[in-house]
Amino acid sequence: PRVTIVGAGRVGSTLAQRIAEKNLADVVLLDIVEGMPQGLALDLMEARGIELHNRQIIGTNNYADTANSEIVVITAGLPRKPGMSRDDLLKTNAKIVVDAAKNAIAHSPNAIFIIVTNPLDVMTYLAWQATGLPRDRIMGMAGVLDSARFETFIALELGVLPADVKAMVLGSHGDLMVPLSRYATVNGIPITELLDAATIESLIARTRNGGAEIVELIQTGGAFFAPASATSMMVESILLNQSRLLPIAAYLDGEYGLKDVVIGVPCRLGCGGIESILELSLSESEVAALHNSAKSVRKNIERSQE
Ligand code: NAI
Repeated sequence: PRVTIVGAGRVGSTLAQRIAEKNLADVVLLDIVEGMPQGLALDLMEARGIELHNRQIIGTNNYADTANSEIVVITAGLPRKPGMSRDDLLKTNAKIVVDAAKNAIAHSPNAIFIIVTNPLDVMTYLAWQATGLPRDRIMGMAGVLDSARFETFIALELGVLPADVKAMVLGSHGDLMVPLSRYATVNGIPITELLDAATIESLIARTRNGGAEIVELIQTGGAFFAPASATSMMVESILLNQSRLLPIAAYLDGEYGLKDVVIGVPCRLGCGGIESILELSLSESEVAALHNSAKSVRKNIERSQE
């Protein structure tokens, strides 16, 4: 199989490395900057003998080279600078993502699309609109990353292995995300049995601020290692038809009482894309938080079209 990554920046190039070195697929790295994706592809190809895989990595500036990809990942666009919110990227990235989605679908009409560019939920909505794809074949990556961050902070707090912590974060990728602490466990034991409410609140607050914490530290861009890992998990679930149940930014059509908006919800992800959306029985305050987060996404969708 072949995966196209549009945007060969930090997230895109790290994702290319993950996909090739996990031996999941051949990769086409496309960027607007000439020479850069070609150079990165050559660099990755030169590591193959050492990393022991035989995947092709092609760098290009031309969408014709992306033809017949099974998956297209869009990471093209600007990342945040310190002090910026994801929403500050709205107008610039909207144009980049819509162009990229239209160009990519013209050459890979059967592909499944994963959007990564921020503000994530809005960009996914705009790409859905621009491609006219059925909603099961276009989605955004955010919840897997936000959940991994929440799990990390729980693991650090308790001094347990990160792999033993499972949690899910729903809602939009931003300050209004909805970490479900009720469902977070350490090997099946709810964290509410292990941590007091104030500590859990502080871990939730750190999760909401997880992206900004890294932007402040790096200064010249945002996170990319964990974002690439999270995206590669979604790519793997599709290519290997694993049907994993993951938080995914999906177009809703009545689920959770929400319509015509993209937001993070639990989905089964397999070779056809989103196989189903799970409707959890949420508490009143969780539903309110989800609706609040959908409201901000909708407002930004409208702003992007002004
Ligand atoms: P970066 O600046 O390293 O890479 C972006 C790349 O996009 C650059 O190489 C640039 O040349 C390219 N690009 C710009 N316009 C293009 C166009 N029209 N066609 C093709 N390529 C184009 O940024 P980074 O760190 O890789 O982040 C990429 C995006 O992903 C940002 O918007 C960032 O906010 C977002 N992001 C989203 C996450 C999520 O959880 N959904 C997590 C991390 C980043």
